[in-house]
Amino acid sequence: MILGIESSCDDTSAALVQDGVVLGQLISSQSEIHREYGGVVPELATRQHLRNLIPVTDQLLRMTGVSASDLDAIAVTRGPGLPNALRTGYAFAGGLALRLDRPLLGIHHHEAHLFSPFLAGNPAQWQLTDADFPFIGLIVSGGHTMLVQVRHIGDYSIIGRTIDDAAGECFDKVAKLIGFPYPGGPHIDRMSRQGNPKAYRFPRPMLHEPGFDFSFSGLKTAVRYFLRDHPGLLESESTRADLCASVQEAIVEILTAKSIQACLTMDCRTLIASGGVIANLGLRQRLQKHCQMHGVRFRASELSFSTDNAAMVAALAEARFKVNPEGASTDLNSEILASWSLEDCFLSRPVTETGNQA
Ligand code: KG4
Ligand code: ZN
Repeated sequence: MILGIESSCDDTSAALVQDGVVLGQLISSQSEIHREYGGVVPELATRQHLRNLIPVTDQLLRMTGVSASDLDAIAVTRGPGLPNALRTGYAFAGGLALRLDRPLLGIHHHEAHLFSPFLAGNPAQWQLTDADFPFIGLIVSGGHTMLVQVRHIGDYSIIGRTIDDAAGECFDKVAKLIGFPYPGGPHIDRMSRQGNPKAYRFPRPMLHEPGFDFSFSGLKTAVRYFLRDHPGLLESESTRADLCASVQEAIVEILTAKSIQACLTMDCRTLIASGGVIANLGLRQRLQKHCQMHGVRFRASELSFSTDNAAMVAALAEARFKVNPEGASTDLNSEILASWSLEDCFLSRPVTETGNQA
């Protein structure tokens, strides 16, 4: 039984996972607190995590009828993320591990997102098999946008990433220009459903350039100038919807084209998509359709596991522990890793009697 703790940004979350089954999860969201500032304020996030970690964990244990002594390990997000936000969860998890004399499993935030689509069903269950490898992982959230070649758990190459804003950041910044509250991504998603995606043509930065990197800051700037030149556009509900749909169309087209290109170029016939932006209906539908057209298997995280959550942390920790218990465990004297590359969480697999890796 593994307790997972997540506090890398603005959600405090705790979850319990046993044999791949999510026994329970609680998420205390802080979006109401950060909304009036138009973005996450690190100091406020830290204070909220400190307030929330104990009651959220306590409530989770009561809710599931599990006592702390039943826990076999404590998993926690070690990085990357907001340094002091990470520290709150890491110190809490380390303290618990020390008190209970159990292993501490420090988890990479992007690695947890990467595998979150393998949590599915009700109750949610870890559904990853060897047949799922290799795959291309698309991670799209407020802080990161990247394409990863995944050979196995703990064996990754980042093949593309944003060179400026993340896709979610672009959604949020454009939403702010339109007048939606933070985070604006879901508002653009909702408005887009009534709009015409071909009404206005916005640039698709780097779409036709070789490689798998992304760039979204030019798109936000293009929308800013477009609104300056068409000041009345936001007054009508229908032109506002057209604007949302047209911006979303540009983002969706870029993400879909680069993901499919990555699958075909790297000869990976599976695309696994995760992160907060994958909640976007237009993006999910387009990825699904294009994967089908190119014979690529597609899987995206369920909505409850697409934004930051502790179930993905605990489930991945359990899977890593099964691959290599020693390699997956973290020293209690260790620190958080606020800037940590996914490629640096390598996990060696035990060698079998035949000399092959398990
Ligand atoms: O993964 P996440 O919860 O936090 C980070 O680790 O960043 O992602 C949050 C991001 C925000 O930028 C939010 O606007 C975006 O995901 N988002 C969406 C939608 N739902 C959340 N963007 C577009 N459409 C949505 N439906
Ligand atoms: Zn995240």
